[in-house]
Parts: sequence; structure tokens; C-alpha cells
Amino acid sequence: MLGRLNHVAIAVPDLAAASAVYRQTLGAKVTEPQALPEHGVTVVFIDVGNTKIELLEPLGEGSPIAAFLDKNPSGGMHHVCYEVDDILAARDRLKASGARVLGDGNPKIGAHGKPVLFLHPKDFQGTLVELEQA
Ligand code: CO
Repeated sequence: MLGRLNHVAIAVPDLAAASAVYRQTLGAKVTEPQALPEHGVTVVFIDVGNTKIELLEPLGEGSPIAAFLDKNPSGGMHHVCYEVDDILAARDRLKASGARVLGDGNPKIGAHGKPVLFLHPKDFQGTLVELEQA
């Protein structure tokens, strides 16, 4: 079921400042910011060859990463995203094995225009897991 690591996401308090660190200090190419109101975040991606890094900044009231940044004010690793071939089949299999799917359990369209779901960190070694249909 589990496919490639699509990205590792880092929540940041200031997306412009974080993008500058990746561009200038690390010499990486950073995409233009993309607002995802449905997910309550603005994102950029950094392609590091074998995977991507996603930097996330809160967008709007009640952003799902606001509480995380309250606990980690300088930012921190927020989730890992794995690819799956069939997100509904993956969801049904995970639910049948007792894993909790966040939100209403239905995939939303993510930053790459593909369906995504998030799984409860307490069911996955304390790590928030995103699944993206490849
Ligand atoms: Co993500």
C-alpha cells in the first residue's frame, strides 16, 4: 500500500524568512507561495531530488498548524507524506485496522492537485501522516 515519500513538511512562523534560508543559506530552489485556504496554510516546495520539503505557514483563522506553532514557536517537522495508488482503498484498509483518519474522512485536494488525507499521529508513532494519491 505504502508508496514513495512524497515530501516532509516543516511548519514555520514566517514563510518568507524560511524560504530565504532555503534559497540563500542552503542554495535550494523554492517555489512561489501557494495559498491553500481549504487546508488553512500557505505552502512552498523545495525539490531535493529524491523527495521534496514542504514549508507551511498558517493561513486564516483556526489554521490546523496554529497550535503546533504555539508549541514550537520557531517551527518544526510537522508531517510526512507518503504516496498511495488508491487513496480510498488505502483509507478503507486503514480504518478497518483501527487507524483514525482526520477530518470527515474524505480526501481533500492537496497542493499538487491530487487527493490527500491525514492520519492521526497517535496511531503512527507520534507522527502526523499525509497520504497523497500518486
Ligand atoms: Co503535506
